[in-house]
Amino acid sequence: MIFKELIKRKRDGQKLSSEEIDWIVKEFTSGKIPSYQMSAFLMAIYFQGLDDQETLALTKSMLESGETITIPSDLPLVDKHSTGGIGDKVSLILSPVLAEMGLNVAMLSGRALGFTGGTADKLESTGMKVELTPEEIEESVKRFGFSISTQTENVAPADRKIYALRDATATVESIPLIVASILSKKLAINTESIVFDVKVGTGAFMKTLKDAEKLAQGLVNVSKLYGKKAAALITEMSQPLGEYAGNALEVKETLSALSGEISPDLLEIVTSLCGSLYQLSDLGTFECGKNLAKEVILSGKAYERFVNWIEFWGGSLNLPTAKNIIKVKSEKEGWISNINGERLGYLIIEMGGGRKKADDAIDYSVGLRFFKKIGDFVKKGEVIGEIYCSEIKHEYINSFLSAYEFSSSPVDSPNLIKKSIV
Ligand code: URA
Repeated sequence: MIFKELIKRKRDGQKLSSEEIDWIVKEFTSGKIPSYQMSAFLMAIYFQGLDDQETLALTKSMLESGETITIPSDLPLVDKHSTGGIGDKVSLILSPVLAEMGLNVAMLSGRALGFTGGTADKLESTGMKVELTPEEIEESVKRFGFSISTQTENVAPADRKIYALRDATATVESIPLIVASILSKKLAINTESIVFDVKVGTGAFMKTLKDAEKLAQGLVNVSKLYGKKAAALITEMSQPLGEYAGNALEVKETLSALSGEISPDLLEIVTSLCGSLYQLSDLGTFECGKNLAKEVILSGKAYERFVNWIEFWGGSLNLPTAKNIIKVKSEKEGWISNINGERLGYLIIEMGGGRKKADDAIDYSVGLRFFKKIGDFVKKGEVIGEIYCSEIKHEYINSFLSAYEFSSSPVDSPNLIKKSIV
């Protein structure tokens, strides 16, 4: 095959065959295609897109470039993927709850990406082991009904190489490239069903409902073409989820949530995703699964399972705590109309709670607490949040306050679930 011809066809909006896409991935991964040609190809995809069959072919080729993991399971084996947001500790709460509901969970989770946090980093704040071998994942599922671990270097190495080039060539934002990248890692485990939590709003990568819908539909279509049962919920991220954002603080919030003290937004999102997986696994209706998840959370039944799991993998509930807590007072009065999660995410990184460079160490103790949500009325001087930091800096307070927008007339609180895609 002549790569220049394939680039030209994609540039002109033509469809490529699975064999052609597979050939490109193999040649690029083995170093036979130079980066300048692959960059042109990625840019052609950025402008012309890929249809579902092409995206499936790209997903499969990247998936097959690395190892796949087979976990034996007598119970339905499921997974959940979030596209990332601020205060999103859903995976931590949902996994032991699903195990309590009679499902098995095998989840490969990423580290922090851009301005959002990562499940693996949150778990590492307990000191537990998060890089598990396939045998250890199997053991975790067998003992606790769930496993959450990082994807190893062996999973989808082609995606890592292509992602690095996308990052350098302004082609990360292409929806089919995002779909193939996510799925090349998510499909590496033999789960039967997967639900996608596609976040939309100022604290998410997808800022508009239209883009979120395209991404959700792409993830569901390609997963189904691959042979999985799949669904997606498009959920609210124009304000942080729950009460805290920051690694150790989110584990602490998870512990409260699993003992029945959970903020209403977090309860709604977690139980809806559980309901969706319950339905996909043919155990009952969405509503039935959602109610069961609610009952498990409010009764505190999954708490012990989660704590035993952390301790089994070497973690401790002696979580790191921040040296200082700053109370943030509002300088304005009115109804909150938006809370910019992207700014808050960058504030956490600035305080050391995320990485500026890939090898930066994380201060797990830092983070933010939110007392108010969209639609709440705030008086001037009222405390709206807290900043957990190792050093007190006035710029932290300014950044926190700059994330809040106010309206002089009442504002409705937004729908938490914007759309369900099956
Ligand atoms: N997450 C991924 O794994 N890949 C993308 O391209 C974007 C988000």
